[in-house]
Amino acid sequence: MCGIVGYIGKNQALPILLDGLKRLEYRGYDSAGIAVFDQGKINCVKAVGKIKELENKLAGKQFDGNIGIAHTRWATHGEPNEINAHPHADCAGKIFVVHNGIVENYRELKKQLIEEGHKFKSETDTEVIVHLVEKFYQGNLTLALQSALKLVKGAYGLALIHEDEPQKLVAARHGSPLLIGLGEGETIVASDVSAIIRHTKQVIYLDDGEIAEINGDGFKIVNLNLETVSKDVKEVEWDYSQAEKQGFSHFMLKEIFEQGESIKNSIRGRRIVEDGKAKLGGLETINDRLREIKKIIIVACGTARHAGLIGEYMLEEYAGIPVEVEYASEFRYRKPVLDQSTAILAISQSGETADTLAAVKEAKEKGVLALGIVNAVGSTIARETDAGVYNHIGPEISVASTKAFTSQLAILALFTVLLGRQREMSVITGKRILEELELLPEKIKMILDQNEKIKSLAEKYRDAKHFLYLGRKYNKAVASEGALKLKEISYVHAEGMPSGEMKHGTIALVDKDFPSIFIAPTDSVYEKNLSNMEEIKARGGQMVVIATEGNEEIKNITNDVIYIPKTLEMLTPILANIPLQLFAYHMATQRGCDVDKPRNLAKSVTVE
Ligand code: AGP
Repeated sequence: MCGIVGYIGKNQALPILLDGLKRLEYRGYDSAGIAVFDQGKINCVKAVGKIKELENKLAGKQFDGNIGIAHTRWATHGEPNEINAHPHADCAGKIFVVHNGIVENYRELKKQLIEEGHKFKSETDTEVIVHLVEKFYQGNLTLALQSALKLVKGAYGLALIHEDEPQKLVAARHGSPLLIGLGEGETIVASDVSAIIRHTKQVIYLDDGEIAEINGDGFKIVNLNLETVSKDVKEVEWDYSQAEKQGFSHFMLKEIFEQGESIKNSIRGRRIVEDGKAKLGGLETINDRLREIKKIIIVACGTARHAGLIGEYMLEEYAGIPVEVEYASEFRYRKPVLDQSTAILAISQSGETADTLAAVKEAKEKGVLALGIVNAVGSTIARETDAGVYNHIGPEISVASTKAFTSQLAILALFTVLLGRQREMSVITGKRILEELELLPEKIKMILDQNEKIKSLAEKYRDAKHFLYLGRKYNKAVASEGALKLKEISYVHAEGMPSGEMKHGTIALVDKDFPSIFIAPTDSVYEKNLSNMEEIKARGGQMVVIATEGNEEIKNITNDVIYIPKTLEMLTPILANIPLQLFAYHMATQRGCDVDKPRNLAKSVTVE
């Protein structure tokens, strides 16, 4: 989950590394460090806390060197302190490594290295890598790394430099993302494209078991047997400006406000309205296989899983295909029963979530068709799946996922139309869904226009210690998603559940200090929701209700109403979720929380 950046080229490395770290800070931010050549020697500086702390420590320092590596950490082994921060060095202080991932067999390697006389400074698993490289080093860093990696079990994306080879940077990947940006007279290695798009859009994605050796003349990629591997150079489709805040106080707010545009981008060119059909280019080669599918298992984590739960309702109601939604972290441990008529569908914004990736691999091993809905182009899940659909929404930087969720829902609706029309869905139904999808951006704007009102509701409820989020049918998972958003950025406890489930126990918690948020648009389950709201009201519970515009009756329940425009029932989650994103955002800012970098979290969870 950490961020890695490495630089070798014609410019001074330090400012480029620091800029790269800032772009990667959302991947982890409990400590950071850099190692940069300075007139033939490597200087290493580390700091606890955010990149700002590192910058403060470096203020006034000039390192005269054009090679370096840097790291922003999300601790797995060893508390966040300067010693545990990366880069880590060998005993002689000449070799430096930055690493993302987990060395699973680090205890036994460490024990052996200590017996051989190596001195360890940190509690991290990473430090064994640099001591192993030191052990095998005989004048060639690449060869030493290759020998070291043959002993390492676990996941890594890493970069190394050695004082004795001042024109070389070596990087390797197994299970944790790493890519190489090819600029003019410079090469940048990073765990994520956002660290390099300022410099170049030409990238090479390293695959598992590959080592890249980069020097002033170019680069060479080999596998762990040192055989040369030829790789395609890909063009990144994101713009640098997309990774900027553009006047918003936080990335999260910017990304919430981008949702009209991101839905447009997700559905563009994918609707054939007159035929009531969806055209998903990434699935075209497997159209015949899709016709044979009898069951879909959706695997995902967090917000992406909530999108999957809504997709389940869409696919079952409109395409008539049985769907299961599984926590990706549970999938391979439950011994799923899979056959050739089952497909798995992985949903992931980052395309790097370790649990989701493991589920994809498990399914592929069992010969099951693996599909993906992924935002990050070229990411591991995008490459591991047999076929898939990209979100096309640009980078999502804020740890709290917002625009990815609504885009995932729009794509799930298109996927439903695609599969539905292969089966029993009529042209009219297909057309209706496709037409409604196109109207969403305008409707989203009407919700965003209520930002100030939602902010004042957050002011009213800012001191509440617990919330219950309730919804039914399509909006059951919106309740869970709303609760997750509040928890992760404002640290207020919240539970999301089906409205009908609440009276089977949880209602015991309700009193005047325990507010509920109801997602209750005017749909097929509205009357049922109304009864549940009455039950809460009868117990003195306060309520905020997300209702469909024009519903005046709801004022008999509460005055705290946020209206959303009418749309098809299956698409209401796209609209109903947005006020909840804004509510969580304003709760967090009013409580003084760091919205884009919530404590203990990182954007992409690349460890199990
Ligand atoms: C969302 O706000 C969360 N931070 C988190 O639940 C996230 O959705 C989850 O980790 C899955 O990430 P992915 O979409 O990149 O796979």
